[in-house]
Amino acid sequence: MPSPALAAPSSAPGLDDVIAAETRLSHVDGIAGELIIGGHHLQEMADWRFEEVLALLWQDLMPDQTGPNDISRALGKARGRAFERMQPLLPALHGLSPVEALRLLLSALPDAEAIPHPVLAVAAVPVFTAAIARAGQGLDPVAPDEALAHAADFLRMLHGGPADPEKVKALDTYLVTVSDHGLNASTFAARVIASTKAGLFSSVVGALCALKGPLHGGAPGPVLDMLDAIGETSRIESWLADALAGGERLMGFGHRIYRVRDPRADVLKGALAGLKDGSGRIRFAEQVEMAALALLHEKKPLRPLQTNVEFYTALVLEAVGFPRDSFTNVFAAGRMAGWTAHVLEQEQTGRLIRPQSRYVGPMPGAGA
Ligand code: ACO
Repeated sequence: MPSPALAAPSSAPGLDDVIAAETRLSHVDGIAGELIIGGHHLQEMADWRFEEVLALLWQDLMPDQTGPNDISRALGKARGRAFERMQPLLPALHGLSPVEALRLLLSALPDAEAIPHPVLAVAAVPVFTAAIARAGQGLDPVAPDEALAHAADFLRMLHGGPADPEKVKALDTYLVTVSDHGLNASTFAARVIASTKAGLFSSVVGALCALKGPLHGGAPGPVLDMLDAIGETSRIESWLADALAGGERLMGFGHRIYRVRDPRADVLKGALAGLKDGSGRIRFAEQVEMAALALLHEKKPLRPLQTNVEFYTALVLEAVGFPRDSFTNVFAAGRMAGWTAHVLEQEQTGRLIRPQSRYVGPMPGAGA
């Protein structure tokens, strides 16, 4: 009898090139450097409001199909509901990192809820993220303003006052840019959980757990740490060379799918250019980016390593005023659009996701 390892088809560690779902939500072409969301190239969507991408992703998946303005009103109401639910839990957040605190608050949302779950999930992340960031500075949470657009209220809840319109626009562009991205690790996690019919909040909490790792959504904070550690132009090349020589990965570079530049990097760079202040920071970051790409090309000639979304994410989120330990939570605020849509799609069209493993252990009695 052949051993199971020989009988099974070959395995694919990391599931590279495995097609594990069919989706109409988004498509990533890593060779052409293209991201299509619901039939639109990302570049066409740079000026969209977040509510517009939600309407696009939820199209045909939500029972009461609504447009961006209805979604904006529903989100406002749901932000209020999330704020109420959060209040009694705030003492329990003590000692947790921001993403652990978000995980705790999201997992406390009940399944029996009058507001449709996807709306509440999307509404809740900015409410929780802003409150967690303020708690980190010893400040009380700010209640949402139901009448405001989602991005504007996110910044208002963070800063405790009306947000500068150009910063709201930059945040909207960010949230749209990261709203969905094929079958990335966190979205796959959400679909696996949804395929067991565990429910939406369980699925998106699992997705958040996958997002928090530094190889996925935990990189933008470390990008700023890297820029700060480099400090000045004269140190760029030596710092990067030392990091690579020490076996470190340069944060904000490399991607499992993209073999060319991540198209999201340029959309975010454009958003940054729309902000008044920060041109010095951008110039410095560009110099670091150029030097990093040259070094990666020289040191890893067999592996095309290009700038990924996290590099300019870090600069945009810093410029609109988020503390760097909140960046993963802000990523979750945008990606919640895609997670919820993938969960709905999986629930409607999917089958239990249950791949196989290849057994490489000893057979019973072997070597006895
Ligand atoms: N810096 C230096 N070397 C790198 C980098 C990097 N950023 N990324 C990959 N490499 C090297 C690896 O060391 C490896 O080299 P080796 O073959 O000599 O050992 C080779 O490139 C292949 O690396 P893998 O880990 O197999 O590539 P994978 O596709 O799994 O990695 C990943 C993708 C995790 C994003 C990786 O590029 C990385 O760690 N980047 C830094 C962290 C980062 O920016 N994360 C955010 C990703 S974007 C997102 O998820 C939203």
